[in-house]
Amino acid sequence: MQIKRFERKEEVALHAAELILNTVAERPDAVLGLATGSTPIGIYEKMVESYRRRSLSFRSVTTFNLDEYAGLPASHEQSYASYMTRHLFGHTDFDPSRTHIPNGDADDPAAECAAYDELLRKHPIDLQLLGLGHNGHIGFNEPGSALAGGTHVVELKLATREANARFFTAPSKVPARAITMGIGSILKSRAILLVVTGPDKAEIVRESLAGPITTACPASLLQTHANVTVLLDRDAGRKLN
Ligand code: F6R
Repeated sequence: MQIKRFERKEEVALHAAELILNTVAERPDAVLGLATGSTPIGIYEKMVESYRRRSLSFRSVTTFNLDEYAGLPASHEQSYASYMTRHLFGHTDFDPSRTHIPNGDADDPAAECAAYDELLRKHPIDLQLLGLGHNGHIGFNEPGSALAGGTHVVELKLATREANARFFTAPSKVPARAITMGIGSILKSRAILLVVTGPDKAEIVRESLAGPITTACPASLLQTHANVTVLLDRDAGRKLN
């Protein structure tokens, strides 16, 4: 695991964007695993800026998003599909037929999960971008006594729903369930880029990267992967030696 520390979150975003853009420059048909939430917003901004400046094309890139809320249509403004259009896809030349996000509104969620896994088997992820939940979740793989390997429906923990309530008009509007890629799929990525900023994540950064490997902290399983790069700002890294 390679840990890189930066003073400010803007530098973290710039470095993360550069790593992603370098992957695409080296391999125009790269498969990227993408995340949502607050952390990637700055990264996607830099990717859009750079795309405009460097005239780098994403049209042969394939993407898989980690997760989507269950029960929200893609057109809902807080769906992760809308988020991706707003922050990245809508400003670049990603080919919509190559961008994949679980359909949270599927009639048959189990079939949707199986189809997503099948696509992931066909297109192994070269670089998976991850944020970190306050409780150690990655994707929406919540802490528990066991973790699922493949894509599955998950009940969101109250803490996760509260943390995401800021995006909704009321906490009660945050969906109770989501579809998420499993830990097994995340760990199959050739390379993983974990990005964490802010003082409120300092403790979970320490537990995830320096604590025991346990399903009680899903991100701690990243310690078992051979190619993980972690980017931290000073605040997020302050409890790590
Ligand atoms: C979202 C995702 C989540 C977030 C995590 C951190 O696609 O996979 O695991 O990365 O909840 O979210 P922020 O960045 O909002 O603190």
